[in-house]
Amino acid sequence: MLDALEQLKNDALAEISSHSTEAELEGARVKFLGKKGQLAAASGGMRDVAKEDKPAVGAKLNEVRTAITEALDEKNTALTNAKDAAAFDGIDASLPSRPIPQGALHPLTQVQHNAISVLRRMGFSLAEGPEIETEWHCFDALNTPTDHPARNESDTFYFENGKLLRTHTSSVQVRTMETTPPPIRIIAPGSAFRRDEVDATHLPVFNQLEGLYVDEDVTLADLKGTLEFFFQEMFGDVEVRFRPHFFPFTEPSFEVDVKLEIKGQAAKWIEIAGCGMVDPAVFDSVGKTRDDKEYSPKKISGFAFGMGIDRLAMITYGIPDLRLLIENDVRFLGQFA
Ligand code: PHE
Repeated sequence: MLDALEQLKNDALAEISSHSTEAELEGARVKFLGKKGQLAAASGGMRDVAKEDKPAVGAKLNEVRTAITEALDEKNTALTNAKDAAAFDGIDASLPSRPIPQGALHPLTQVQHNAISVLRRMGFSLAEGPEIETEWHCFDALNTPTDHPARNESDTFYFENGKLLRTHTSSVQVRTMETTPPPIRIIAPGSAFRRDEVDATHLPVFNQLEGLYVDEDVTLADLKGTLEFFFQEMFGDVEVRFRPHFFPFTEPSFEVDVKLEIKGQAAKWIEIAGCGMVDPAVFDSVGKTRDDKEYSPKKISGFAFGMGIDRLAMITYGIPDLRLLIENDVRFLGQFA
């Protein structure tokens, strides 16, 4: 019996070492260690072994099982290692990896973030409104008469249902006042749309930043101080001037210029924003949509301003053509990373 077991062990080990696939190895496991395998059959022979020989035969059975199990494990590991090595064949894992290009914020986003962070420091918080607007929010409530040229179909994109793509972010002024009582100090960055031909300084979709401040006793001095501080934070120690202008929704109204040198040229005045004191007619319109008298022009006053973020970016970075900002050419965008 002992000899037969030794023979079984040797046969098994020889067979296992000759195998080279996982399937063959599994076959050998079943053949030798399986329930109906050769070792199980040999154990059955214990019945006929003389009592005094049983311990020795039992020990031999264990030895054979352990030896076969170890051989199977070893061979399995060897096969797995060989497979891994084959998968790496021809690959030099010590080479440095290929660089993963890192993204960065678009220059427009960078300028917008800067502008927002300056205004937030002054206590303005962000407000939002829809890009598809009603005529009420974009024009009527903003004291813009029906025959105003901006309302023309040749200037504004209208939908068949009478709604339109907002031509400026000033509509957010109205929306905010309709839902929130004063005091109000908001900024609203966002897209605006006009039927403009595409050229170096015009796009039919552009970006604006609106500001609105409403409280008791807000004066023109507050407006001037706020915008002067803002532009000096954005452009350094620049001169800022206010030129009288007209907007339907502010009175008095101004255009704001800053004196800047662009790319080594002599400093010149550059128009950069529109602004003014909120026209009482706007407060009256808002008042009609509310069931309180919070926006009575007798009680409150305010200022508003609006500027093009694209223009701020062109000035900040000396970008000569607006179209560069929407072409997504990495050779251009990479310069701002
Ligand atoms: N909405 C004006 C424009 O688009 C800018 C503006 C905003 C002017 C607020 C005055 C007050 O040109």
